[in-house]
Amino acid sequence: MLTRVPGLLFGGDYNPEQWPEEVWAEDVRLMAEAGVNLVTVAVFSWSRLEPRPGGFDFGWLDRVLDLLHEHGIAADLATATATPPPWLVREHPEVMPVDSSGTRLEFGSRQGYCPSSPVFREHTVRLARAMATRYSSHPALAMWHVGNEYADHTLECFCPVSAAHFRRWLRERYGDVDGLNAAWGTSCWGQHYTGFEQVEPPRRAPGPVNPAQVLDWRRFCSDALLECFLLERDALREITPDVPVTTNFMSILHGLDYWKWAAEEDVVSDDAYPDPADPDAHVAVALSYDLMRSLKGGPWLLLESAPSAVSWREVNLPKPPGVMRLHSLQALAHGSDGAMFFQWRQARYGPEKFHSALLPHAGTDTRGWRETLELGRDLRALGEIAGTPTAAEVALVLGWDSWWGLEAPESMPSDRLKLKRLLLDWYAPLHARGVAVDLAPPGRDLSGYRLVIVPNLYLCTEEQAAALASAPGRLIVGPFSGVVDAADQVHPGSAPGPLRELLGVRVEEFWPLPDGARQPVRFTGGGRTGSASTWAEWISPLDAEPLAHYAGGDLDGRPAIVRRGRATYVSCLLDDVTALLDAELAEAGVRPVAEVPAGVEATRRGAYLFLLNHTTAPARLTLPCPGADLLTGRRLRGEIEIAPRDAVVLRIEGDQ
Ligand code: GLA
Repeated sequence: MLTRVPGLLFGGDYNPEQWPEEVWAEDVRLMAEAGVNLVTVAVFSWSRLEPRPGGFDFGWLDRVLDLLHEHGIAADLATATATPPPWLVREHPEVMPVDSSGTRLEFGSRQGYCPSSPVFREHTVRLARAMATRYSSHPALAMWHVGNEYADHTLECFCPVSAAHFRRWLRERYGDVDGLNAAWGTSCWGQHYTGFEQVEPPRRAPGPVNPAQVLDWRRFCSDALLECFLLERDALREITPDVPVTTNFMSILHGLDYWKWAAEEDVVSDDAYPDPADPDAHVAVALSYDLMRSLKGGPWLLLESAPSAVSWREVNLPKPPGVMRLHSLQALAHGSDGAMFFQWRQARYGPEKFHSALLPHAGTDTRGWRETLELGRDLRALGEIAGTPTAAEVALVLGWDSWWGLEAPESMPSDRLKLKRLLLDWYAPLHARGVAVDLAPPGRDLSGYRLVIVPNLYLCTEEQAAALASAPGRLIVGPFSGVVDAADQVHPGSAPGPLRELLGVRVEEFWPLPDGARQPVRFTGGGRTGSASTWAEWISPLDAEPLAHYAGGDLDGRPAIVRRGRATYVSCLLDDVTALLDAELAEAGVRPVAEVPAGVEATRRGAYLFLLNHTTAPARLTLPCPGADLLTGRRLRGEIEIAPRDAVVLRIEGDQ
């Protein structure tokens, strides 16, 4: 059980402080009617819980928690530290963050804090402690929710306090300033430092900033916010050691190294907002769900999603009927133990007054509310799924250090390589084939996988290369990998650096392609052709066999894809990886969970098979095995039809 609540979790952010108390009674009555069993409370309540320094007003929150408990609803109780109150900002203006041009930001939104500020940190720990002391034995308390979406608005701060913190962090990493000079390559452009006090964050400078400095800054910013989380977590653990702690992640987020973060929390939770305007949004979101499941290797919780429209895109499309349910089932399919939303009741004021909610402005006689009730019923019917693990035979490697290095500004051969895109190039066809995928950090033991795909590993250390070399399964490595070491310095002898022996290839020159250009590629034997865009390389095989060559253009006749034993190196960005992928899957012995038509997602979670029709047309398919559809109670076998945007969740018969 993720929290203290059995079964699947259903509910959302509940902001009762935005409503008169008379409304609360209706809230809990309707929550109970919908089957809500968990709500996230007090996320932005600091100014209401502590309106004056040290002057706490817990009365209203006591009443909210009591009311929830009386109606059988548990609380994911926030420490309320996501938004420091006005009095703190006015007494200590230095808690507000400063941007890279040196401007201190003003109060009036949220996350108005400098992550390094000792004042901010001290006050958050004080509040977390006060919350834990007050509610340690409250029966509604099911989970702690620290902060909120760290790095959403405030990822970094360039103030003098942050600069001093950065210097301490660097001193710890490098010991002395010569270590830093060596790692940062300060002999370039005359940046040799003679003391740590000369080092600053990468603020706006006349030209490109040292990329090694930027890389360390990214590491530092992730660590600085993690320290904020840890301070609160430790305070909570001291007082309520048995209550699980989470903080809500933001899917695949560039700013925070979620491998490092997840190791420090009890429950992985995520906020996901697939765009209804994007017909492929369900694919990208599935990738982030698989990351969430992989972070701790088990069930996680979708803590926020939108019942219909959000309010923060330029144009906010509603979710058509059935899509809220379908997207919720998709999260369950990928390992979530519930479906939670932002937010319970649609706000009347503030920047999110047009953001959808489980209970819309227009009330209960709405399609929105009817869909809320329907989802509540479905989640109850699926309760037995909670806690079920997922098994995957394919792993995609994703590491934040490498991502930060790859997307460093202004100094790369091409700034068109974006890691999320590269991950999706491989993930999308795996998803379409119903192949389960785990994400794995570089350096992890990969012995459980039949196929490991590294879409890109620009920054690759000797240890990470050794982990890939000792993985027994098949391996595909994408271009521009093994280029630099942990300090962003090019490996001696060029890419793929420590992967050279494993891949049997040497990169002589990177060959980025102009926007819009297509580089034809011809596969050996059979003359099958393909194409690449954005990126290619002039490579020389050492003892690898070419699988494909570039055809035409300046690279004509040069090898494009090479294989050495079980490892394949792809030196370009193929426009379509499916032929290569299918061959690798077949050789690895990885089979899809079901044969499904385009737009239908097939996902296995333990003994359950989820079939989700993301299209607007009925879909026909043949079930790989008979079973009971938990959503309808019907026993299904053979050929079935799934209505548009509908789903089947099959408990497979005769399975474990
Ligand atoms: C994020 C935040 C919420 C809310 C939603 C709106 O997920 O955590 O407080 O602002 O976005 O989509």
